[in-house]
Amino acid sequence: MDKLKNTSNFIKTLNGNSTKTPIWLMRQAGRYLPEYREIRKQAGSFIDLCMNPKLSAEVTLQPLQRFELDAAIIFSDILTIPMACNRDLKFVENEGPRLKPIENEKEIFELQLTNFKYLEPVYECLGIVKSKLQDDKALIGFAGAPFTIAAYMIEGKGSKDFANCVSFFNKFENAFVELLKKLEIFISNHLIKQIEAGAEVIQIFESHAEIALKENKFHSYCIKPNENIVNTIKDKYPNIPIIGFPRNAGKKYLDYVSNVNIDCLSIDQNVNIKELISNLKKRKIRNMCLQGNLSPEILLEGGENMEKNIDHILDTFSSINHIFNLGHGVIKETPVSNIELLIKKVKEWNR
Ligand code: CP3
Repeated sequence: MDKLKNTSNFIKTLNGNSTKTPIWLMRQAGRYLPEYREIRKQAGSFIDLCMNPKLSAEVTLQPLQRFELDAAIIFSDILTIPMACNRDLKFVENEGPRLKPIENEKEIFELQLTNFKYLEPVYECLGIVKSKLQDDKALIGFAGAPFTIAAYMIEGKGSKDFANCVSFFNKFENAFVELLKKLEIFISNHLIKQIEAGAEVIQIFESHAEIALKENKFHSYCIKPNENIVNTIKDKYPNIPIIGFPRNAGKKYLDYVSNVNIDCLSIDQNVNIKELISNLKKRKIRNMCLQGNLSPEILLEGGENMEKNIDHILDTFSSINHIFNLGHGVIKETPVSNIELLIKKVKEWNR
C-alpha cells in the first residue's frame, strides 16, 4: 500500500519524474465550503475543530470528495504550537487569532516547549485520513516555521508590520534567537511525528518572511532555522519530500533554495516566474520543483481574467516540475464554481 501511494502523480512530480501537473490549494478545506461550515458549527470553535481528530479528518477529506485534487493537507493550524505551550489562543470572528503576547526575555528563557501530548489529536487525525485516502492521493503534513510562529507569539495577533515583534527582536536579540531555537527543535519533532503518523509530504509555512527580510534578518531568522529543520527531517526520513514557502521573499527566494534542502519551493503571486525559473536554471539549483502561484484574489473574481491567468501559469511553468496551487490561501468568499473551473482547466491541460 505504501509503495503504491509513493507512485502518486503528486509524489512523482516532487521527485522530478512526472510530466503531469498535480493540483491542491492552500486552505482547500475552509469556510468557502458549505459542508465545512456545517462541521465547524458542530465542533463549536475553530480550535475545537482542530483538536477533534474525527471531525478534522472529515473536513480534511471534504475538498477531495468534491473536487479532483491530488493531495489532502491535514486540517490543523500553525498556531497549535503556541497553544501547546499555554499561550491562550482564541480566534475572534472576523478578526483572527489572539494570544497572550510574550512581553519579556524571562518568559522566553522559561518557556517549556515539550508538550507533544497536546498535539496528539493532530497525529490521530493524520492516521484516520491516511486510512481513508485513495492510494493515488498524497497526504501533506505541515507546520509554521519558527520566525512566523514567534512573530505571533510576541505580537499576540496578526499584523501588517508586526511592529512589536520587530522592536522586541531589535532590543532583545539573544532572547529572540533562543525562542527561534526552541521552536526549531519543537517543530522538527512535530513534523517527524506527523510523518510517523502518516504524512507523506511536509510543507513549512514561513508566511511572514517579509518582516525578517525588511530588517535584514532573513538569513539568520528564516533561512537558518528552515535549513536546520529540513536537515533534521532529511537525516531521519530522506525520502519524504519537503515543500518550503517563504512567502513574499521576492528576490531572496533564490537564497532560500540555495541553502534550504527542500524538494519544492512554493511561491506567492508577486513573483516573476520567468525570471525565477531562469535564475534557478542559471544557478543549476537541483531538479527544483515549483508550486504556485495563482492569486487568491483572481480566483475569487473568476471569469475570463482567471482563465487567462491559469493558462499563463501553466504555460510559464511548463519547462519545470510544477504543482499548481495559489500564492496564498483560498479566500472565504470564493465561489465554489471558480474552484471547479480551475481544477477542470488543470486536468484538461494534463490530457
Ligand atoms: O491549507 C489548509 O487547507 C490546511 C489547514 C490550514 C489552516 N491554517 C486552516 C485554517 C493551514 C495550513 C493553516 C496555516 C496557517 N494558519 C498559516 C500559514 C499560512 C498563511 O495563511 O499564511 C497562518 C499564518 C495561520 C494562522 C491563522 N489561522 C490565521 C491568520 C487565521 C485567519 C483567521 C480568520 O478568521 O481568517 C487562521 C484561521 C484558519 N486556519 C482558518 C482555517 C480554515 C479559518 C478558521 C475558521 O474556520 O473560522
